Amino acid sequence: TPVPPFDLVIFGAGGDLALRKLFPALAQRNEEGVLPEESRILGIVRKAEDVEGLPNEVAKKLKDSGLPADRIAAFLHRLTMVQMDALKPETYAALKTALGDSDRVRSFYLSTPPDLFIPICENLSKAEILTPTSRVILEKPLGRDLASARAINDAVAKILPESRTYRIDHYLGKETVQNLLVLRFANTLFERSWSSRDIDNVQITVAETVGLEQRAGYYDKAGHLRDMVQNHVLQLLCLFAIEPPNLLEADAVRDEKVRVLKALRPIVGPDVQRYTVRGQYGPGVAEGARAKGYVDELGQLSNTETFVAIRCEIDTWRWAGVPIFLRTGKRLAQRYSEIAVTFKPVPHSIFGAAPGCDQLNANRLVIRLQPDDGVQLQLMMKVPGSGKLKIVPRQLDLRYDTAFGVRSPDAYERLLTDVIRGDQTLFMRRDEVEQAWSWIDPILAGWQEYYPQPHRYAAGSWGPSQAIGLIEREGRSWADPE
Ligand code: BG6
Repeated sequence: TPVPPFDLVIFGAGGDLALRKLFPALAQRNEEGVLPEESRILGIVRKAEDVEGLPNEVAKKLKDSGLPADRIAAFLHRLTMVQMDALKPETYAALKTALGDSDRVRSFYLSTPPDLFIPICENLSKAEILTPTSRVILEKPLGRDLASARAINDAVAKILPESRTYRIDHYLGKETVQNLLVLRFANTLFERSWSSRDIDNVQITVAETVGLEQRAGYYDKAGHLRDMVQNHVLQLLCLFAIEPPNLLEADAVRDEKVRVLKALRPIVGPDVQRYTVRGQYGPGVAEGARAKGYVDELGQLSNTETFVAIRCEIDTWRWAGVPIFLRTGKRLAQRYSEIAVTFKPVPHSIFGAAPGCDQLNANRLVIRLQPDDGVQLQLMMKVPGSGKLKIVPRQLDLRYDTAFGVRSPDAYERLLTDVIRGDQTLFMRRDEVEQAWSWIDPILAGWQEYYPQPHRYAAGSWGPSQAIGLIEREGRSWADPE
């Protein structure tokens, strides 16, 4: 179904995110006929040369993805470049003129560092560019701690109501993440055992093979905890752990997520040494080639972490006593993200004494986000044959591509059109973001005092050995990809 006619203004249009994700996602939606004819995309650029240069770069990107020339032209036709300095109020006249006085839904995507969020919103307001239906989309990370996140939220709230503020976390737009709610609440099978009664431990892994890429300025100041854990990983944890909302409705879901965040046991002071692992990659071999270490890529010394592992617990009746292990990092051995739920072993093995019988592995449910998104369930099975009884683990394996035969849309394709439709279900509410920071802040403070230097790990490995210690200390091990 087409969205209502809109004007989408992208601040930071020349940035990495816009080029790699936003324009391709919009072009894809254009191909699907979801963008009405009169809708426009306005890219804000600072430099005069980008007014011509950026559309060429967008065209190149789309060509690489296989879009035919006439379709690229059809997309570029929607694109208007506006040269201005987002920090200078006097330059907003150019944007105002470009927008004219149409009654299309106006959305402003702030694909910029968070310290620009307040000035941009204030300048848009002063220049009287915001209409009564305008929306603002804030890219993560929202601030760098609780205080700065609150300051942003307070300032934005003076200009736009919460119902028109969209805090984006693109992980919520991933198909498998949305499917998590369906898997849990459209099936009875799992929900009955979704608690400490049947679950032994939960592991959330978001592993990347890429290193610093072109984002040194941002990433080195943020670090991996702010870049990935405060948002993506905690959002996965929330959706995994929430109580059933009574409706699939934005606030019902978000209320439950906030409850999970509030129940996350704080990790404070010297406990950071016991329950968290910070790492930074050194040189190594990644994806078959020699890879530089982080400080070499950066060109200066740095104690910024590129890897984080955390052992946490949710203090509720449902989850008390279930260790939850989070692990995420750059330049790891393989790109894969998943939630692995290991169930408790059978209470008594009737096969224990059977000769030739392997150890009974506990059942494990793996919700795979990427690559090969899908769901796997590990069961113990008898090996066919009339000899000695032999039992081995095997997978029930449901992959999205083969199960549905359709392409999984990129997260931004879904989220950008949700904004225009006015659906906030897959966006973070103010209290969620602040609650997540409330849990992250003590870890950052603890690191500063007790854990200032990250452990080194070789690029292309699974992170520092301390991350293995973190889980093995509790008699468990990481569920590495099949
Ligand atoms: C972004 C982070 O939000 O997510 C990046 O800033 C990271 O550092 C990226 O690489 C990962 O996203 P995806 O969709 O490729 O898993």
